[in-house]
Amino acid sequence: MLNGERKILRPLRWGMVGGGRLGQVGYKHRLGALRDNTAFTLKAGAFDIDPERGKDFGINIGVEESRCYPNYQAMFAEEARREDGVEVVSIATPNGTHYEITKAALEAGLHVICEKPLFFTSEEGEEIKRLAEQKGKIVGVTYGFSGNQMLLQMRSMIEQGKIGDIRIVDLQYTHGFSSTEDADKFSDAQKWRVDPKIAGPTFVLGDLSTHTYYMSQLIMPNMKVKKLLCDRQSFINSRAPLEDNAFVSMHYENGAVGRLWTSSVNAGCMDGHRIRIVGSKASLEWWDSKPGELRYEVQGEPVQTLIRAMPYLDEQCNADERLGALHTEGLSESWANIYLKFAIAIDAKNREDEETLRNLVYPDIDAGIDGIRWLENCVRSAENGSVWVDFADRPLLDVN
Ligand code: NAI
Repeated sequence: MLNGERKILRPLRWGMVGGGRLGQVGYKHRLGALRDNTAFTLKAGAFDIDPERGKDFGINIGVEESRCYPNYQAMFAEEARREDGVEVVSIATPNGTHYEITKAALEAGLHVICEKPLFFTSEEGEEIKRLAEQKGKIVGVTYGFSGNQMLLQMRSMIEQGKIGDIRIVDLQYTHGFSSTEDADKFSDAQKWRVDPKIAGPTFVLGDLSTHTYYMSQLIMPNMKVKKLLCDRQSFINSRAPLEDNAFVSMHYENGAVGRLWTSSVNAGCMDGHRIRIVGSKASLEWWDSKPGELRYEVQGEPVQTLIRAMPYLDEQCNADERLGALHTEGLSESWANIYLKFAIAIDAKNREDEETLRNLVYPDIDAGIDGIRWLENCVRSAENGSVWVDFADRPLLDVN
C-alpha cells in the first residue's frame, strides 16, 4: 500500500509546458505529480500559449515569478543555466506540438512526460526513442487511467490462467459531448481537436482510444494485434476527414478477436469506458465509472465482484492501493477540498476577515462539537434502555 513515503531519494525538480489556466488536463498532471510531495516538486513552467496569462497562472500556483517563462524555448535555456534547474518536464499542450517540444526537451537534457497521442507518426516516435536513448532520458506518456490498480489485477488473473485462453477482447471508450456541431464552436480545446493540423490524423481515435488500447496491452501483454480493420465516420460533416466515431475490429496473433468502439457522439453516455476480456473459462470486466470494482464471471458460477484494497487481490494490485478498503476514490478529492477550506479559514482568521469565515462551509469546531453531542445522545439513549432522548437540549459531555 502507498502512504506517501518517498520511493526515491529526493523529489525531482519538475517543469510544465502547457496545462495553463484554461487547459483541460494540466490540473490532472499536478494532481498526480504533487500528490505525495515526495516524487516531484513544481519549479518552473511555460504554462500557456499566452505568456502573460501563463505567468500570472504560474505565480498563482506557487511557482517563482522568474521561473514562469513566456515559452518552452526560454524555459529550457534558462533552466539549463541553473544549478537547481528542472530535470523533467511534462508536456500538456495540443497534440501537434508534442514532437517539437519533446525533442527540444531531450536536447536540453531533460526527461519528458508527454500527453497522448504522443506524436503524429511512428517514425517520429522511433526518432525520439533513439534520441532519448542517446541522451539517457525517459519519455513517459500520460495514459491517465492506466494507473488504476484493478487493471493490474486483471493482468495478474489473466497471467495465472484464471479466465483460460483469451478469445474475445471488447473495448469501448465513448462519450456524447461532441454530438452536435456547436460543440466545435465554443470550446478552444474542442476546436483544435477537429483540426488535422493540430490534432493529427485522428480525432476520437487519438483522443480516446489510445488510452483504451494501451490499457488493453497493459492487461494482456502477450496479446499482439496481427491485423485490424477500422471503420470511421464523421457524423458532423465539418469534422471530416477526422472521425467522431469509429469501430475497429482486431485479429490477434493467437487467434483471438477484438473490437474497439470509440466515439464522441454517443449521445447521453456518461460512463463509456469499458474493458471486457472473454476467455475460454471466464470473463473479466472493468468500467471506469466503477474503477474500484472488477467483475469476474466464471461460466456456470455466480458472478463475483472483486473490490479494491481487499486482501484477496493480487500483491501487485494492492501495492498500488492508496486509500484502503471501504474508502471510495472520491475520498481523495474530498480530502483535498477540506484541506483547501481549512487553509482559507486559517488565512481569513489571520487577517480577521470575519465575513469570509461566516460564509465558508467547512467542518469547523461546531461540527466537531456536534459530533460529540451525537455520541453523547446515542450513549444516553442506549444506556437508558434505548429510549427517545432530545438531541439539542443536553449540555455537552453530560451523558447521564
Ligand atoms: P487545452 O487546449 O485545454 O489546453 C492546452 C494548454 O496548453 C493551454 O493551457 C494552452 O495555453 C497551452 N499551450 C498551447 N500551446 C502551447 C505552447 N506552445 N507552449 C505552452 N503552452 C501551450 O488542451 P487539453 O485538452 O488540456 O489537451 C492537451 C493535451 O492533453 C492533448 O494532447 C490532449 O490529447 C491531452 N489530453 C489528455 C488527457 C488524459 O487523460 N491524459 C485528457 C485531456 C487531454
